Amino acid sequence: MRSCRVSLRGVLISRSHTESVLRVEQPHPCRKMADFVTFEDVKMARERIRKYLHYTPVLTSATMNKMTGREVYFKCENFQKTCAFKARGALNAVLSIKEGLTAPGAKGVVTHSSGNHGQALAWAAAMGGLESSVVVPNNTPKIKQEAIQGYGATLALCEPNPVSRKETCDKISKEKGYEVISSCDHPCVIAGQGTMAFEILEQVPDADAILIPASGGGMSAGISIAAKALKPDIKIFVVEPKGKNLEACLRSGERLWPNPPQFVDTIAEGIRIQQLGMNTFPILCKNAEKTVLTVTNDEIVKALRFALQRMKIVIEGASAAAMAAVMSDKMKSMDPSIKKVVVVLSGGNVDIDNLPWMHK
Ligand SMILES: Cc1ncc(COP(=O)(O)O)c(C=O)c1O
Repeated sequence: MRSCRVSLRGVLISRSHTESVLRVEQPHPCRKMADFVTFEDVKMARERIRKYLHYTPVLTSATMNKMTGREVYFKCENFQKTCAFKARGALNAVLSIKEGLTAPGAKGVVTHSSGNHGQALAWAAAMGGLESSVVVPNNTPKIKQEAIQGYGATLALCEPNPVSRKETCDKISKEKGYEVISSCDHPCVIAGQGTMAFEILEQVPDADAILIPASGGGMSAGISIAAKALKPDIKIFVVEPKGKNLEACLRSGERLWPNPPQFVDTIAEGIRIQQLGMNTFPILCKNAEKTVLTVTNDEIVKALRFALQRMKIVIEGASAAAMAAVMSDKMKSMDPSIKKVVVVLSGGNVDIDNLPWMHK
């Protein structure tokens, strides 16, 4: 890798550079990689993508405020294009390629994801006029495969394991000249997800804290960069499913997770990856609170029910995890000076025929 700090602004990131960033195999000390994406990158991303995306609403619930003793604001990315925040990062990546800022000459984009990122990248590529390919495990439900194809991507099936996913993705990248767009670690993806921070602080200018569900950490890292630049005293709390063990990692600044990467046993499938990304981890070590809000499946179900019954909104497990976090005992025990809390409802792609309480 040529340099630890990569800016998308004015600096051409060559194809080989971006690839080398994406294929980092050794952990990076927090100090060196924490400025991997800058506030300027997020600002530029906002200008690049805003006209194609929804400015999603913020909803409130008097009942929730009463239950939690705080003012809670729900940022509804379940109403975003493709029904998840992932459209932000994917579109920023595609348009940056089109502008020749990153991976100049790439003919298309490829990723491995059977979830929201796969759909978002397919949608973004179609918007930007690039070819796209999405690698999914061969046991991915047909409905998800069809959704990805519906947005215009070519589907590539692989064996249901991380090695096969990566190999298939790399093969397509090589053969077709496509840029690999990681769901959390690509600098354009991190910058794109961060654009949400501008809207949050326009909608709730005096917010004290933002609660963000994390898988690889692209969204929380991106939001943390912009939110801390706009309002340095704002607190960024990461929300995780039980088993992710993030708090110990953030406190020690070390990647304590087992390898190879594992999935956590959670009903919030959007946030089941245990490890943060190589690039997102140092950003969150720098910007996030060391206290992590951990939620169980029961708490997620309770929040999902609240969203449907009381707020009349459709959200998926990862969003419900963030809602569960604001309702949690750990949050209740926190400093009462944290009055205004923004909770990111990150997506709404839920299988309504397979809700958690249906099979009991
Ligand atoms: C709905 C939803 N919320 C949250 C996340 C976590 O995003 P990140 O990987 O950027 O932490 C994902 C990731 O797939 C998701 O689909």
